[in-house]
Amino acid sequence: MTTLDNTVTTPTTVRLPAGKMPELRVMPAPSDANVYGDVFGGWIMAQVDLAGSLPATRRANGRVATIAVNSFLFKNPVFVGDLLSFYADITKVGNTSVTVFVEVYAERNRLAAEVVKVTEATLTYVATGPDRKPRQLPPLESLVAHR
Ligand SMILES: CC(C)(COP(=O)(O)OP(=O)(O)OC[C@H]1O[C@@H](n2cnc3c(N)ncnc32)[C@H](O)[C@@H]1OP(=O)(O)O)[C@@H](O)C(=O)NCCC(=O)NCCS
Repeated sequence: MTTLDNTVTTPTTVRLPAGKMPELRVMPAPSDANVYGDVFGGWIMAQVDLAGSLPATRRANGRVATIAVNSFLFKNPVFVGDLLSFYADITKVGNTSVTVFVEVYAERNRLAAEVVKVTEATLTYVATGPDRKPRQLPPLESLVAHR
């Protein structure tokens, strides 16, 4: 992180969330970064969208489409070689929509001791049918593998 006077501050290191499984773990490659080695925000957004869609798809028991990115915060930069873990939790369920909170942590240099929270975002997905129109979510009780 760079401050106004151009000095560099070290982001606070944290731990990966205990007892939770990431939806996605991925390591950005040089082709995902700009010439300074910082990973493109758009690449991170694509991974966040994918990670968030997984619990939404399970809850919808079928296809979903992203209708809104409600908020997005790039709190710390992501570098080539960071091992990223994406955690996603459903925060709201409507008639056809599922809202998901996604948190992203980076293990710098692939070291578990150097964990930095880099991104958090909230996205809304809509369950859709074969006609690509909104579809009523199935009752929770009808889902066998819901978690
Ligand atoms: C997703 C889509 C089928 C929904 O159809 P729609 O007619 O716009 O949807 P509706 O207005 O009926 O709203 C559907 C749900 O989304 C919610 N919604 C609508 N706008 C929203 C917004 N800005 N933020 C959050 N939720 C929103 C509604 O509240 C509703 O939820 P509910 O049924 O749980 O109450 C349609 O908008 C679409 O195809 N969008 C393009 C999707 C896409 O290409 N995404 C990128 C690739 S996946």
